[in-house]
Amino acid sequence: MGAARPRLLYHWRMLFRQLIDNETSTFTYLLADEATREAVLIDCVYEQHFRDLALLRELELRLTHTLETHVHADHVTGAWLMKHALNSAIGVSGNAGATGVDLPYAHGDVIAMGQVRLEVRETPGHTAGCVSFVLPAQRMVFSGDALLIRGAGRTDFQQGSAERLFRSVREQLLSLPPDYAVYPAHDYDGRCSSTIWEERRWNPRLGDGVREEDFVGYMKNLGLPHPKKLKVAVPANLACGKPADGSDGPRLPDWGPVVRTYAGVLQVEPDWVYAHAGGLTIVDVRELDEIKATEMGLLPESVIAPLSTLRDHLDEIPRDRPIIVVCPAGARSAIAATILEKAGITRVANLRGGILGWRAQGHVTEPSSSVKI
Ligand SMILES: [Fe+2]
Repeated sequence: MGAARPRLLYHWRMLFRQLIDNETSTFTYLLADEATREAVLIDCVYEQHFRDLALLRELELRLTHTLETHVHADHVTGAWLMKHALNSAIGVSGNAGATGVDLPYAHGDVIAMGQVRLEVRETPGHTAGCVSFVLPAQRMVFSGDALLIRGAGRTDFQQGSAERLFRSVREQLLSLPPDYAVYPAHDYDGRCSSTIWEERRWNPRLGDGVREEDFVGYMKNLGLPHPKKLKVAVPANLACGKPADGSDGPRLPDWGPVVRTYAGVLQVEPDWVYAHAGGLTIVDVRELDEIKATEMGLLPESVIAPLSTLRDHLDEIPRDRPIIVVCPAGARSAIAATILEKAGITRVANLRGGILGWRAQGHVTEPSSSVKI
């Protein structure tokens, strides 16, 4: 029996996580009904697919939708990859002009996951198809690139209009109650969230007292370079992130049922290792003295390569078969798996739960006297 699932950070039945793609400073939001385990991802990123997939798996959530606040110009969405992996529906504004959309939402639509309800508000101006998601029960708004923390999305391409954006933000967002938390699609200075009150008080572009002509003048003189990925990202996002080469996108190693954990480690289950042991190299990363001093024993046919000297002996690790690294609980071997992967060994994985996990699933170990160096 595993430990009871803890109640994680959540707001009234809602589990909530803010994730970031460091390269593009894009925020991805995971929202889930804590009771039904239904989840949505807002603005997931192509390159973060396996991270997001791992978090959904480890939190035991069922992804029902990916939701886009708009057609992004700076990164490619992971929406299609999630649909391919988990059969989640793709939601994008009906005004965005995207193909492959399962849920083309419009102003006033409500997206529900269990008891959690997201209200769609059209907030065009950064692009013509921008929306924000308002959660009245949680007193939160996901404002995309319409309202940023102390800023607003640029309006100089993708049918942008400073006049439209000014009215969208003022009428649809800053009119919300002042205590609503604001979660934008990006921040480039380490700021994660704000409130409607703060933005009305301190947003230099759109705060109270700023007139439309002031805002338009501000936006016309931003002088920003175009995003590096603009030419790739916009067409890819108009296809919801479906790879243009017809492939299924990035893949995990296919030599076994390997998963990448949210901690970033390639990992396999003890039962699979037991069933395929003849085709694998088992590498035990404990110190020799430690192995001899314990009654825990070894997995059959183990090779010993202590973690403390592993980096010095990478050339001696046999690579003709996939490598499974083991230690008592699967913690030190997780580091070892990462070291071997970084050394260029693609067929490597950690044994989940280590030797204790192996034994817990009913598999036997050999006595320590059978050790082979
Ligand atoms: Fe954007």
